[in-house]
Amino acid sequence: MLDLGCAPGSWTQYAVKVIGPKGLCIGIDLQRVTLAISNARFVQGDAFDEPTIVKFAAESNIELFDVVMSDMAPKTSGIRVQDQTRSFDLCVRALDVARARLRPGGNFVVKFFQSGEFDNYLKMLKPLFAKVEIFRPKSTRKSSYEIYIVGLKKL
Ligand SMILES: C[S@@+](CC[C@H](N)C(=O)[O-])C[C@H]1O[C@@H](n2cnc3c(N)ncnc32)[C@H](O)[C@@H]1O
Repeated sequence: MLDLGCAPGSWTQYAVKVIGPKGLCIGIDLQRVTLAISNARFVQGDAFDEPTIVKFAAESNIELFDVVMSDMAPKTSGIRVQDQTRSFDLCVRALDVARARLRPGGNFVVKFFQSGEFDNYLKMLKPLFAKVEIFRPKSTRKSSYEIYIVGLKKL
């Protein structure tokens, strides 16, 4: 599986338990992750840098991933429109990665900061998956714009 925006590594720590010792999670983040986990590999890099993803997938003998997840978030500036735009760009990038590197039948999850682009994003995502679900964890603060979009069974 591929974990975009993995630092400091909480999602990865949970994911490796789910995938088990035979699975492998590759995490990419601008920040360095120092955790030592036997079935995870961390890459310090930019998710927009396609050669980085290709190189590390190839080194782990992965052609296509079973799961692509993205918790990528920009450093917030406090300027809401700017932060929403940056967040949207990261979500679009995550979807591009899933389009190219997720195997047919594979699953995708992305954290999305709700904005006027929400419907546009769903329009991009829906044709790629058999089923799309939107999820807001109970633990999310009421004031938060955070929402999770899950694409199941890539077509
Ligand atoms: C909310 S944190 C992720 C938390 C992580 N999922 C965890 O469970 O520990 C968001 C991360 O997205 C990363 N990020 C932002 N833009 C990125 C990019 N272009 N490429 C890779 N990572 C990026 C940030 O560096 C930050 O560590």
